[in-house]
Amino acid sequence: MQRVIPRLGRNGPRRICAVSYHDMATSPGDQTDTRLADLSRYIYGTTRLGDDKIQFADRVKMAHAAMDAGVWFHTSHQYGDALKVLRAAFDADRKRVPRMIFKIGWSTIQELRQTIQQNIEPLGVDHMDIGQLCLGGKLAEEFASGGKCHDDFRKLREERLVHRFVLEVFPWTSRLPLAALRAGHTKGVIDGFIFYLNPLQRFASNELWDLLQERNEPIVAMRTVGGGDVHRLRDVPGAAWKDYLRQRAVEIAPLFERSGCKTWPEFCVRFVFGFPQVRTTVGATSRPENLRAFLDAVKTIKPLPSDIQSQIVSLQYRWSDQTDLHAEPWSM
Ligand SMILES: NC(=O)c1ccc[n+]([C@@H]2O[C@H](COP(=O)([O-])OP(=O)(O)OC[C@H]3O[C@@H](n4cnc5c(N)ncnc54)[C@H](OP(=O)(O)O)[C@@H]3O)[C@@H](O)[C@H]2O)c1
Repeated sequence: MQRVIPRLGRNGPRRICAVSYHDMATSPGDQTDTRLADLSRYIYGTTRLGDDKIQFADRVKMAHAAMDAGVWFHTSHQYGDALKVLRAAFDADRKRVPRMIFKIGWSTIQELRQTIQQNIEPLGVDHMDIGQLCLGGKLAEEFASGGKCHDDFRKLREERLVHRFVLEVFPWTSRLPLAALRAGHTKGVIDGFIFYLNPLQRFASNELWDLLQERNEPIVAMRTVGGGDVHRLRDVPGAAWKDYLRQRAVEIAPLFERSGCKTWPEFCVRFVFGFPQVRTTVGATSRPENLRAFLDAVKTIKPLPSDIQSQIVSLQYRWSDQTDLHAEPWSM
C-alpha cells in the first residue's frame, strides 16, 4: 500500500516521497542511504535504571526485559548507577550484551578518551558501537572548522574503540553542527545527528533542521514520549519539569485526541517516523508494561493523518523561534 508522505518545512510540504506502510514498519528512511539503518526502531534509554528509589534487583529485571526484546540501548556513566545495573544484567549472560550508544565528550580529545573508558570499563565491554559526540568548548569549535579532531575521531574508529559516531545537538549548540554540515566536515566522520525529537520538542534550530532534511541526514530521535503522558504533563501540577512543556502539552493534546491513536506512545512514534530521516526513537522506562507499549508502537508504524503531522511541524517551527533559540544552555 503506497502513501505519499510530504516532507514538511516551515511553510508546509516541500518535497514529496513515496513510502509504503510496509517500508515504514520495517525500515523507515531513505532506502538508498544505509547509515544507521541497522538500529532497532526503538532504543531502550537507560536513565530509569539509575533511579535508586527502585530496588536494584527490579532494575536488573527491567534491563533483562529490554535485553530480551533484542533492542539497542542508550546509556551514559552520568545516569546514576545505571552502569552497575547493566553490568549485573550483562554478567548473567555475556552473549546477550546489546548493541549500545554511549554519550562521550566534552571539550578536549583527552576528556573524550577518558569518558570512553568511564563507560566501557564498568560494563566489561571493549568498544562502543556508537559514540554520541557531546562536544563543547575547544573541541566543538575545532569540529565545526574541520580541525585536527577529525583525525582523532578516525583514529578511535581505526582502533575499533568507537565504531561509529553521531553528533549531539541542542538548541543552544545548533550553530556549530550547522557550520560543520554546511562546510561538509561531517562527511565520513558522522553517521547521523541525535537530539530531542518528539511531539513536544525538536531540539535542532530551524535552520539546522531544514538542512538536515535537505541533506537527508540520519536522525536518532530522543525522548520518545517527551517525558510522559501528554494529559499528565498538561493536567498534573509538577508533572512537566518546566512550564514550557506544560504549555506545549496544552497545544498538542487536542491533536493527539483527534489523531485516532489509541495511546500516547503510538502518537509519538507515528509522529517521528513521519520524517524519513528518523532511524530510531530512544525512550526510557522502569516498567515492563511501558516497555511493551514502546515495542508495540514500533511494530507497525503508520503515518499520522497529514494535517495533524503538519500542524505539529508548524508548532515546532514557532516554538523554536520563540523559545528554544533564546534558551539558556540546559534550561529546557
Ligand atoms: N543528552 C542526552 O544524551 C539525553 C538527554 C535526555 C535523554 N536521553 C536518552 O533518552 C532516553 C529517554 O529520555 P527521557 O527518559 O528523558 O524521556 P522519555 O523516554 O520521553 O520519558 C521517560 C518517562 O516517561 C515515562 N513513560 C515511559 N513510558 C510511558 C508510557 N507508556 N506512558 C506514560 N509514561 C511513560 C517513564 O516513567 P516510568 O519509568 O514510570 O515508565 C519516564 O518517567 C534516556 O533514557 C536517555 O537514554 C539522552
